[in-house]
Amino acid sequence: MAVDVYISEEKIQARIKELGEQITKDFNGEEVTVVGVLNGAFMFVADLIRAMDLPVVMEFIKASSYGDGTVSKGKVDITLDIQKDIKGKNVLVVEDIVDTGLTLTGLLEDFKQRDPKNLKLASLLFKPARCQHKVNIDYLGFEIEDKFVIGYGLDYAGKYRELPFIGVYSEDF
Ligand code: IMP
Ligand code: MG
Repeated sequence: MAVDVYISEEKIQARIKELGEQITKDFNGEEVTVVGVLNGAFMFVADLIRAMDLPVVMEFIKASSYGDGTVSKGKVDITLDIQKDIKGKNVLVVEDIVDTGLTLTGLLEDFKQRDPKNLKLASLLFKPARCQHKVNIDYLGFEIEDKFVIGYGLDYAGKYRELPFIGVYSEDF
């Protein structure tokens, strides 16, 4: 099966540079606890923190959302939690993609209860066509069409995360 480039490596890196500059400006020299959502955000977050000129404390979290919205709104299971207390901290959650919005809605709800000073969200991608739970994305890379994308951290059945670009399957396979 062939993979077509949907967003090139150059475009991704140029956008990350802009986001990094914006985040640097907004946090004004203050320390930021960056929380990467595993697995998908690992590559984006690694590039994003290098585009930020701020003191960073790097943490990771793993969450899975409950099914399809028939269950209670924003119910997520945190399968791997961050190690630090975020009370009174500037927190930037970094995600690969907001699709239905279920995962992030639940995760941000949980984080709010931990009483951070500031809670912001960066997502590389947003698929408006699929959105069911509105999530406020403070730093968005790209809005995309209703396509299943792979690469640059995003997987299909655990594969293709290593691609340096965002791809889609081509029709001919
Ligand atoms: P949610 O539907 O917003 O809760 O997104 C759940 C998760 O599904 C995302 O964090 C991604 O890991 C994954 N996901 C959603 N859309 C895609 C896609 O197009 N490609 C790969 N993974 C996706
Ligand atoms: Mg994800």
